[in-house]
Amino acid sequence: MPKVGSELRLDGEGKPIWVLLELTYQCPLQCVFCSNPVDFDRYREHELSTDEWKGVIRDARKMGAMQIGFSGGEPTLRKDLEELVCEANDLGYYTNLITSGIGLTSKRLAALKEAGLKHIQLGFQSSDRDTANMLAGVESFDRKLSVAKEIKIHGFPMVLNVPISRHNIAQVPEIIELASEMGVEYLELANVQYYNWALLNRDQLLPTREELEWAESEVNKARERLGDAMTIFFVIPDYYEGRPKACMNGWGSIHLTIAPDGSALPCSQARSIDTLEFPNVREHSLEWLWRESPTFQKFRGDAWMKEPCRSCDEREKDFGGCRCQALLLTGDAANTDPACSKSPHHHLIQQAVQQSAIPDKHVGSLIARSSSHRLGRKAT
Ligand code: SF4
Ligand code: FES
Repeated sequence: MPKVGSELRLDGEGKPIWVLLELTYQCPLQCVFCSNPVDFDRYREHELSTDEWKGVIRDARKMGAMQIGFSGGEPTLRKDLEELVCEANDLGYYTNLITSGIGLTSKRLAALKEAGLKHIQLGFQSSDRDTANMLAGVESFDRKLSVAKEIKIHGFPMVLNVPISRHNIAQVPEIIELASEMGVEYLELANVQYYNWALLNRDQLLPTREELEWAESEVNKARERLGDAMTIFFVIPDYYEGRPKACMNGWGSIHLTIAPDGSALPCSQARSIDTLEFPNVREHSLEWLWRESPTFQKFRGDAWMKEPCRSCDEREKDFGGCRCQALLLTGDAANTDPACSKSPHHHLIQQAVQQSAIPDKHVGSLIARSSSHRLGRKAT
């Protein structure tokens, strides 16, 4: 039985059962809520080769990984995507492609089907063309619509993932209608998580409590109307819940992200914790970095916790929340996630919520994802 403390635990029984391969940070879109590192362009020259990715896929499977996601950036920019999916499928993984859809042609979908791809998650911004193109930073709405149709023609189960912000929350009924017409099995109305680009834009993105409650009631009406035809996921963001999310089911417990340059991360946002060094699959075995590396040990279990988490009877439920959010908002990744109402930093969340009630015309403009941002320039 896995134990708490510095040891592995939880339902993965010490295995990285869910592996995410971020094949590249390159992307044709410039979404304002992108969760890639703000300095993503630094990693362009250092992407793993096809053989290196295959080694990761094999080693993770040997360690008990069952589900594998191919993500980015935009993973279809890698010409070896089909080859990597084939490798994973042959080893018995459940394979999932997480894509913007740009770059997915009918020919590539057929090749991915042939390679054994089981599932596609398509990112979508809005039911309205202008809003969608504004949030994506480029004209992409019409292309995504036709890709969604092609995905269904090729018989893939699909989840439509729509990051929800104040710019598209009023369109929730139309988004549900559009998803239903597309024939998707799952619609994820994913409230934007405020890391990286989304955190830069938080004042312009965070919906108000009233908007969220209205959207939730619309979701509930649609659930009744649609029954089993489509499953809709909608979770009120932790900014409004008073409790943090059980991020990654606990640090280093079931999830392993491999970044484009081979860095191993306990979650895809972990690079924001710049006090940590991330072990690289080019230098270490997967077994070592998962079980032994100081970075994966750092917040595993509960021995690292400070008060109030240390003595809180909810620590087994949420593991103290999200380490990345704690770092980004309080400056110390070991602090209680400020989304928790017991956190001494909870006022930071309350201030952001108050800010969300300020009308758009009084806040600054959105910053689009751009490689120029790392040079300290805003995108125009
Ligand atoms: Fe969770 Fe820590 Fe808040 Fe307790 S104090 S509910 S463990 S985040
Ligand atoms: Fe990194 Fe939550 S996103 S621990």
